[in-house]
Amino acid sequence: MNNSCVYPGSFDPITYGHLDIITRSAKIFDKVYVAILNNTQKKGAFPTEKRVEMIQKSCKHLDNIVIEVFDGLLVDYVRKVKSNVIIRGLRAVSDFEAEFQMSHINLQIAPDIETLFLSTLPKYSYISSSMVRELAYFKGDFSYFVPECIVEDIKQQYK
Ligand code: PNS
Repeated sequence: MNNSCVYPGSFDPITYGHLDIITRSAKIFDKVYVAILNNTQKKGAFPTEKRVEMIQKSCKHLDNIVIEVFDGLLVDYVRKVKSNVIIRGLRAVSDFEAEFQMSHINLQIAPDIETLFLSTLPKYSYISSSMVRELAYFKGDFSYFVPECIVEDIKQQYK
């Protein structure tokens, strides 16, 4: 086992809230695997390759992160990279129920893997990828919510 963690998500697209959790995790762990779910049941707004690219651009200041796409069970991916920690961000009480359920399911099927929650900074607590997508779709200003370096990528997607 190495001193690493896995931060999984859809990242469709990455927001400042995600970036905050990645940056803080990178201070705690030697290596952070940012794992993008390739969801075969739900096609995302951005192709997974584009999501990888946007996370890469946003995380240029960090040298201990690995960005990968995974499919299948998260715990299988965590084992594949020889980690035993899953990181999730909690924005508000409303996140809690689903996160609690997911962490218990993962703990039941993989008791050797722990889920750790980081609370999102209050200034990012209301940001979500779905709100960014909606603003972008209706040509609203979403630039407060995502790293500056990917604003143009998002605009291009909704052109
Ligand atoms: O950013 P999201 O969409 O909230 O991330 C959800 C994610 C990717 C962490 C979750 O859907 C996931 O882990 N999917 C992989 C399938 C899996 O392991 N399911 C069992 C746990 S409920």
